[in-house]
Amino acid sequence: MDIHLVDGYSELSDIAAGIVTELVNSKNNAVLGLATGSTPVGMYRKLVETYQQGSVDFSQVITFNLDEYYGLSREHPGSYYYYMYRHFFDHVNISPENINIPEFRDGDITAACRQYDGKIETVGGIDLQVLGIGVNGHIGFNEPDRFLKVHTHLVTLAKKTIEVNSRFFASPEEMPGQAVTMGLGPIMHARKILLLASGSSKAKAVFDMVNGKISTKMPASLLQLHRDVTILADREAASMLEEGSFHISQG
Ligand code: F6R
Repeated sequence: MDIHLVDGYSELSDIAAGIVTELVNSKNNAVLGLATGSTPVGMYRKLVETYQQGSVDFSQVITFNLDEYYGLSREHPGSYYYYMYRHFFDHVNISPENINIPEFRDGDITAACRQYDGKIETVGGIDLQVLGIGVNGHIGFNEPDRFLKVHTHLVTLAKKTIEVNSRFFASPEEMPGQAVTMGLGPIMHARKILLLASGSSKAKAVFDMVNGKISTKMPASLLQLHRDVTILADREAASMLEEGSFHISQG
């Protein structure tokens, strides 16, 4: 794991956007795995700016979002579909047919999940997977569990996740209790992983991810087994890490 300590949220966002831009500029049909939540908002903002300056072209890029709440309409401001268009897709030249979000509602969810995984495989897997981290160590919505969930699946969200994420909804009752998430298989098979962590609420999860026992009870700890993980963490998120276990970013 390559851990970089950044100066603050703005630097974290700029570096993250720089990594995505560099990949897309070197491989115009790159496959990106994308995260939502509060942490990558700044990265998307910077990517939009970079696009507006003419320094990156998303026309051939293919995206797969990590997760979506189950049972929310696309128009719901809490949905990740809504989030992705508002923060990113509406502002860049990505082709709508190249956008994939696991927003399955009716019908056979298991079959839809299998198709999602199949599509990721068909395009050759994910080149760069962007991740945030939950305070309980979840990645995507792979919650702490006794078993490894390899494939995209319907998940019952952890109490902690509902508690933390209900801030994105008008009232806690509006927050869905279930979501569809990419499993750990496609995430771990991504050629490169970029994980963003900001704020003191993430300090324990970041510590356990880097130094803890590898266990499905701490899903992010599985990233220790991946050969190309870059972690960008601000001082608060990295506060429990030992000095010397990370690089200090040069800006
Ligand atoms: C979102 C996702 C989640 C978030 C995590 C952190 O697509 O996959 O794992 O990355 O819950 O969320 P924030 O950034 O809001 O703290």
